[in-house]
Amino acid sequence: MRRFFEEEVVYQIYPRSFQDSNGDGIGDLNGIISRLDYLRELGVKILWLSPIYASPNADYGYDISDYFSINPEFGTMDDFERLISEAKKRGIRIVMDLVVNHTSNKHQWFIASKNENSPYRSYYYWRKGRKDNKLPPNNWTSNFGGSAWTYVEEADAWYLHLFTPEQPDLDWHNPKVLEEVEKILRFYLDKGVYGFRCDVINQIYKESLADGKRRVRTIGLEHYLQKENNHQILHTLYEDVFSHYDCMTVGETGGVDFKNARRFTNEELDMVFQFDTINSDSRKIPLLAPKMQKKRFKRTLFAWQKELDWNAVCFENHDQRRSLPRFGNPKKYPYESGSMLATLLLTMRGTPFIYQGEEIGMTNYKNLKPEEYKDVVGLYIYSLLRKMHLPRKTSERVASYFNRDNARSPMQWNGEINAGFSTGVPWLPVNGDYQEVNVLKEQNDEESIYKAYKTLLKLRREDDVLRYGTFEETRTKSSFIAYYRLYEGGLRFVIANLTGHRVKLPQWIKRMRGEVLYSNYCGAGFLFKKVLRPYEALIIKIR
Ligand code: GLC
Ligand code: CA
Repeated sequence: MRRFFEEEVVYQIYPRSFQDSNGDGIGDLNGIISRLDYLRELGVKILWLSPIYASPNADYGYDISDYFSINPEFGTMDDFERLISEAKKRGIRIVMDLVVNHTSNKHQWFIASKNENSPYRSYYYWRKGRKDNKLPPNNWTSNFGGSAWTYVEEADAWYLHLFTPEQPDLDWHNPKVLEEVEKILRFYLDKGVYGFRCDVINQIYKESLADGKRRVRTIGLEHYLQKENNHQILHTLYEDVFSHYDCMTVGETGGVDFKNARRFTNEELDMVFQFDTINSDSRKIPLLAPKMQKKRFKRTLFAWQKELDWNAVCFENHDQRRSLPRFGNPKKYPYESGSMLATLLLTMRGTPFIYQGEEIGMTNYKNLKPEEYKDVVGLYIYSLLRKMHLPRKTSERVASYFNRDNARSPMQWNGEINAGFSTGVPWLPVNGDYQEVNVLKEQNDEESIYKAYKTLLKLRREDDVLRYGTFEETRTKSSFIAYYRLYEGGLRFVIANLTGHRVKLPQWIKRMRGEVLYSNYCGAGFLFKKVLRPYEALIIKIR
């Protein structure tokens, strides 16, 4: 029996920036409800919501102060229940974000844990520091820079946080923590939620607190990245909870390798996100601008298709720069390269994840000033570079790559005020390109990225070969990508130009005969093709 997530496509919503319904400049649950028809029409059936729980917003929801209540900025528990039922009416299911590597420092557990005698003390990693408690207990650094430890006078001890100081790490050695998390899972699953995207789930178990090897980033990583007990814990959650529900789970597992990915997806979680493909544009020298590296892009896609039976396929999320400027060309070929990326995303084997705005080709900010940044990462990097006395311009340029606000700008619905996102002042400015890039315009255009998504989503739903087929790579020049999908005698050939130039095709492809199921250049069939035009993408049914 096929499971729902194997048949359908996930759409990620960053609630704060999706649709504001009451003019306070912050997206909310009623806003999402008002856009359910849009989502149904687009053809997605699963919505993953970035965290909507009570949160002081040090990391915009990824710091949770109460797992059983909804952030009042987003609405109430009643609104959330209404969202679940309104979605259900449209055949849509809701997946939540599960953030349990850490809580907020405003969570009751953490507040209580400052007292040495509290039963909550051991929910977190409280330790005495070195040198008479003057220095942190070890040399670990946080994912967002700086020491991973913060001293609290009242507690006369240090606590561990792999992210901001407002995100203290839970200590999963304590079986109580697991019990608490199971309560949270059941609470939402019983409400009719379809599952969880599990935040930094391959780092939750700290095997030891010994000093880490010296490296540029995240010192200490080798002591907590996908340890044996991490797998045990997830298997327990699976046995105790997940396996008893019709639900899906996907882990955010940065730095995961094939072996661990296979384990995570065997009676632990259903899928994992790897970031090799998304990060294939990064360069060895951190200050150099990232650049599309076609060979690496292709290699990582192929490798993961080969190594895992079922992938979470994704080019974007709320932490990443937009994919169109990374792997396409928004200036010269926005439509062609955007629809080419859509073709790849929706024809790989696995569950595709579309991030809000990706379906219309939203781009990064061009001129966001550091004073306007909201994201901790962007702000931290900017201030770090300034402290290192780098010129303002350079600091701004580098910080703007890392600034996660890029993918969090308000959704562009139309060409009206604030792109239709809000009637008030948006919490983050609307991207300046919204007159050209917005839903309404693309719905009315003959040719648009939106229409490509819609067409491809429909094609995928109707074509079992594209959904269930095996993946067979082909070896070609790095300028284009080509692969087969094979299922019960049906064969599909997907081919896409990864560049803005014309690409000559080799003999074996020129000789191929078949019916074009999808092309991002209208007209002209495939039969007499000798070249691929810029970013041209085709799906061909081979007879
Ligand atoms: C994940 C989230 C990111 C967050 C971090 C800490 O990487 O995607 O947004 O900042 O975890 O929770
Ligand atoms: Ca609002």
